[in-house]
Amino acid sequence: MTHILGSKRDFLDYTDEDAQEFLKITSDISEHPEFQKLKNYTHHLHTTRWQHCMNVSWYTYLWCKKLSLNYTEAARGALLHDFFLYDYHTEQPIPGKHADVHPLAAFTNAEKYFTVTDIMRDCILNHMWPTAGIRPATPEGLVVTAADKYCAGIEVGSRSYETLAPLLKQIIEMIEEGKN
Ligand SMILES: [Fe+2]
Ligand SMILES: [Fe+2]
Repeated sequence: MTHILGSKRDFLDYTDEDAQEFLKITSDISEHPEFQKLKNYTHHLHTTRWQHCMNVSWYTYLWCKKLSLNYTEAARGALLHDFFLYDYHTEQPIPGKHADVHPLAAFTNAEKYFTVTDIMRDCILNHMWPTAGIRPATPEGLVVTAADKYCAGIEVGSRSYETLAPLLKQIIEMIEEGKN
């Protein structure tokens, strides 16, 4: 699916300059054979994990661009934030709670196949905050936490989004405070 969830836009719209730039900075990852394996796993009920990562990466790209942050590294980190290749409903290859350990599994895979910068590392390892883990050290990492929750909300249904909205607002405020 190339349609962006929660949006009328499409990744493959050649008339959309943002979509074109987004593809230019992320397609080496999204089209990589190992990353394509994420299409074999469902995530948030009706979405593939590949689509979820694309959704999170797209909103991270847009929001970081608007906030004048490093949107290239943020979009790449966001794309890799759930790059783990197992079904967490039935398997748990790393000991511990899924929420705590899957960022490390994603980071290990990311480093195996791609160059991971410090910003990308923060985006991947700390994307579960505040549910699990520690608060991201970079504003780009904070945007990924917000985009991940936003996408989870629209992927599982608008009702969940309503409950997540105050958290998203708080995260965006923190990013803006950090810039002043
Ligand atoms: Fe995750
Ligand atoms: Fe996620």
